[in-house]
Amino acid sequence: MPSDDLAARKRRHLDVCLTGPVGYTTRTTGFERYDLPYAALPESDLDSVDTGARFLGKRLRAPLLIGAMTGGAERAATINRNLAIAAQRLGVGMMLGSQRVMLAHPEARASFEVRDVAPDVLLIGNLGAAQLVAGYGVDEARRAVAEVGADALAIHVNPLQEALQEGGDVRWRGVRARLAAVVPEVGAPVLLKEVGHGLTGAIARSVAAVGFAAVDVAGAGGTSWARVEELVRYGSVRRLELVEWGIPTAEALVEVRGALPGTPLVASGGVRTGLDVAKAIALGASVAAIARPLLAPALESADAVEAVLAGVIEELRVAMHLMGVADLSALATTRLRPRVG
Ligand SMILES: Cc1cc2nc3c(=O)[nH]c(=O)nc-3n(C[C@H](O)[C@H](O)[C@H](O)COP(=O)(O)O)c2cc1C
Repeated sequence: MPSDDLAARKRRHLDVCLTGPVGYTTRTTGFERYDLPYAALPESDLDSVDTGARFLGKRLRAPLLIGAMTGGAERAATINRNLAIAAQRLGVGMMLGSQRVMLAHPEARASFEVRDVAPDVLLIGNLGAAQLVAGYGVDEARRAVAEVGADALAIHVNPLQEALQEGGDVRWRGVRARLAAVVPEVGAPVLLKEVGHGLTGAIARSVAAVGFAAVDVAGAGGTSWARVEELVRYGSVRRLELVEWGIPTAEALVEVRGALPGTPLVASGGVRTGLDVAKAIALGASVAAIARPLLAPALESADAVEAVLAGVIEELRVAMHLMGVADLSALATTRLRPRVG
């Protein structure tokens, strides 16, 4: 695809994500089906609640990642730098958007370079599994990590999005074999992630032997990328059932946790509050990721991104205090209450 087309599509993606109705409307994350156990006698001091986490060998001050969003498009450099500055200040991790554009067009690399402003951040690069099927291999995966100084690489799977995109990648046959060939050779931890339609336990089990260092369930209930593609393509949503398809984030998390008991998990897709983060940890995630709510703030300033994330972290701390849990290991063993009615 010529770079102009790719750049134009990325521009439309950002515009639609900023303005369009891109959230699921008939499906929710499923977090609302659980309550955190409220401890009216907490035996806890708010000030001593510890939200520190470890993920992929790095320490985070809170169990949060900025979700994969962009790079290569106009405005992408501003967005990525503001996200990265906020991540550095708060001690949370950051996922970059797909680096395909950067591999094909080296001039796009600058928009992904954030290490100068985020030297300590857990930084995760990003490539699509469809690109592996189409011919990208170990070299491209290693370049995606090395050229931006990333600590790890996320490989996204997005067949629903691609199927609805005009000219999208619809050849997925052989995808598992490509993952099995490439992932062990990258030389850095590799995560598997969806883009908001979710992974099932069966899918996770089917790639258990590949050697993913972590899995991001990226479930339904937040941003629907099928919806984004319909809005980009037609200006409105034509196929409602397709754009609402997906495994709700909480369900995906429970299923994948059961399928891969030893693999660290990221909970994402519609994570919006500190209470969502707390529920995700209690359901088996190591960290949670938030994407679209940070897009508009990232166009504004690092302060604006920091304000949103700091709010989520503070909610998490208050929630932990009110459950009487002192740290994330205690939160991880907390039993959620199914919400009745
Ligand atoms: C503007 C934007 C661009 C995105 N680009 C990518 C991408 O390049 N690679 C990827 O794996 N996911 C991408 N995503 C998907 C997110 O990482 C995330 O999985 C999804 O948006 C669901 O999370 P949310 O409900 O918090 O937005 C993008 C999301 C947004 C909002």
